[in-house]
Amino acid sequence: SLGTSNDKILSGKHLLITAGPTREPLDPVRYISNHSSGKMGFAIADMAVKAGADVTLIAGPVNLPTPDGCKRIDVTTADEMLVACEQAVSQCDIFVATAAVADYKAVQVAENKIKKIGDELTLTFVKNPDILATIATRTDKPFCVGFAAESQDVELYARGKLKNKKLDMIAANDITADGLGFNSDNNALHVIWDDGDKHLPATTKPKLAEALLLLIANRFNSKNIV
Ligand code: CTP
Ligand code: CA
Repeated sequence: SLGTSNDKILSGKHLLITAGPTREPLDPVRYISNHSSGKMGFAIADMAVKAGADVTLIAGPVNLPTPDGCKRIDVTTADEMLVACEQAVSQCDIFVATAAVADYKAVQVAENKIKKIGDELTLTFVKNPDILATIATRTDKPFCVGFAAESQDVELYARGKLKNKKLDMIAANDITADGLGFNSDNNALHVIWDDGDKHLPATTKPKLAEALLLLIANRFNSKNIV
């Protein structure tokens, strides 16, 4: 457990958490997005508050109640999520990026509703900012935790992201595993850092959030002992 009232593992720590999908407009009535539910990020926010942390939750469009005691900021696009994170990051010790950020946005949002003309439609997209990588390259970078939802070569891709994005820890999950991950109530994670790793077996997202926060707190403390 995360501790009793006088023994809270994240007391005095400020966590910044991104959650849910982002939604990228195409025209005044349409967008592209993904099936992220936000449940994992919201469970982490809830458990972090219970562990004594001061929590800022930056949420994309999701259908979830705000966990008690956390500060929630709602955003729509990846650009907005980055701005919200940059505004909150300087006071934060730990950044947990669970959001399924859209990798691309329309190169330009059509001013008017796109009409149904012709048998094919081609739209051009441009890469969105990488929020986690941007935060992790700041000089005042917090302890950075990424997520990697993969459908193949899970550990290989996760280790690549740990290194390339200069993360302190990454939580990988295999989205092909039965009934786990995206939009599900359960998940399993393979948590990896530079000199260790731990498999957190399939369970509910709140229980997984608790186990992950324990790993984060331990690793954060061992890195910050002077
Ligand atoms: N992430 C982010 N901003 C983005 C893309 C990803 O902050 N524009 C974060 C996610 O929140 C997650 C981590 O980076 O914590 C990995 O996201 P993922 O989509 O798995 O990695 P990508 O770098 O986008 O690579 P790909 O989608 O090609 O696997
Ligand atoms: Ca991606």
